[in-house]
Amino acid sequence: MDTFVIEGGRRLFGRVRVNGSKNAALPLLAATLLTDDVITLRDVPDLADIRSMVGLLAELGMTRQDETPKGGVYTLKTTDPSACHARYEIVRTMRASISTLGPLVAKRGHARISLPGGCAIGERPVDLHLRGLRALGATITLNGGDIVAEAPAGGLVGATVFLGGAFGSTVLGTANVMCAAALARGTTIIESAACEPEIVDLATMLIAMGAKIRGHGSPRIIIDGVEELRGTDYSVMADRIEAGTLMMAAAITNGDLTLDNCPLDALLATTYFLDMAGVHVQPLANLAQSRQKVPALSVTSATSDPSRGDDPQRRSVRVTCDRVLRPVEVTTQPHPGFPTDLQAQLMALLCLADGNSIITERIFPDRFLHVAELSRMGANLMRTGSTVVISGVRQLKGAPVMASDLRASAGLVLAGMAAEGTTIVNRVYHLDRGYERLEDRLRSLGASIQRVDEKTLAPSELVSG
Ligand code: EPU
Repeated sequence: MDTFVIEGGRRLFGRVRVNGSKNAALPLLAATLLTDDVITLRDVPDLADIRSMVGLLAELGMTRQDETPKGGVYTLKTTDPSACHARYEIVRTMRASISTLGPLVAKRGHARISLPGGCAIGERPVDLHLRGLRALGATITLNGGDIVAEAPAGGLVGATVFLGGAFGSTVLGTANVMCAAALARGTTIIESAACEPEIVDLATMLIAMGAKIRGHGSPRIIIDGVEELRGTDYSVMADRIEAGTLMMAAAITNGDLTLDNCPLDALLATTYFLDMAGVHVQPLANLAQSRQKVPALSVTSATSDPSRGDDPQRRSVRVTCDRVLRPVEVTTQPHPGFPTDLQAQLMALLCLADGNSIITERIFPDRFLHVAELSRMGANLMRTGSTVVISGVRQLKGAPVMASDLRASAGLVLAGMAAEGTTIVNRVYHLDRGYERLEDRLRSLGASIQRVDEKTLAPSELVSG
């Protein structure tokens, strides 16, 4: 298993492009099942979860059509519509496999998807997905650990569906119902729909395929079903969570980063709280207007696509911070609130604020496995239920720590870059699920971070798990 060895104390400085979004690309890939035509997706990040989804689509009869496969581009077409089974072996490595359920039952009339179990961040039921598909007429049973869904003889039928649950709406549940409704007869209204930008991205691609959808981005989405969807060529939105992570990486190292292809409009809550903490995110056009001096930046990656113009979802922004970080009180919420997927990274940052911060987790109340690991690095944290009080310390200290889930791992990497001495982050395969070659990109910005095989480390440097 790979680990990261990080020498803390280096400032990050330079320019980096934000990749395409994992959480947008996964349901977009699943939605390719909705048509018999060819679909090309661009700016797909090179991640373990994406490879799992593409592997699942291959099992479901989708074949890559790319003449010469190249980075970030997938051209897919259905060649065998008879396969409808997402096996446990794939689902257990990637929960987003559930987002093939809606497309399969709508297009092929039948789906068999292994029921995803719990994971490191909590229980994660799928009752809302099933409630939505049942409302459209699907018959759903559980058989041998698999969800088995059948559409009625004449196909799914539009309905009004309420997708609110105890913790708000559901992102992938909204994706499933929206995809299914796109091919249902009649009109579907999703009430309490997820408003996340990834849902807007999916709706935008479905519309390009011929779907009739309005209201996406609001809690009420209205879908008039159509008989068929066609192929399209679509670029995945930029990854707001990667962008937020890089902003916090700049802040925690007292650095100065420019992010290209930054989906600023999708990050308003994040930039608001960062600003309160003393971290400033400024669109570069604004910088030019205010005649501030932009330092000569080393370009470390491709620049943004000029054909997108001044798209607020693909801006260039500069991230700088005050010398002293201020404490803040933050609660994670569904979009447009502060995202749960940046909670661990923000906690790492607030460990170094001058005073007491409070983080409350409202989406996944147990998403706190990083708390004990940050404490090993000298953080002063007190958890009560779904709230953590963070009493800022002057300095974190390097230590061996254990990555437990994707975003917790990112928080530990950030903490390691700020800490005094060496931090060893074990089990970075969690990180590889959601960040493309993060260590290379951080190193090109000035971090001291190496990927090594844990077998090459002394036993004292590993945390047993
Ligand atoms: N929930 C239910 N019933 C359901 C579905 C969800 O009670 O049927 C609950 C969940 O347990 C949770 C809340 O509703 O408390 C929200 O869960 P949601 O369904 O929105 O999560 P998801 O769609 O499974 C996506 C992202 C997650 C992200 C969440 C919340 C993908 C592939 N995953 O998951 O991303 O945390 O939305 O924004 O899009 C990550 O990238 O690290 C990650 C975990």
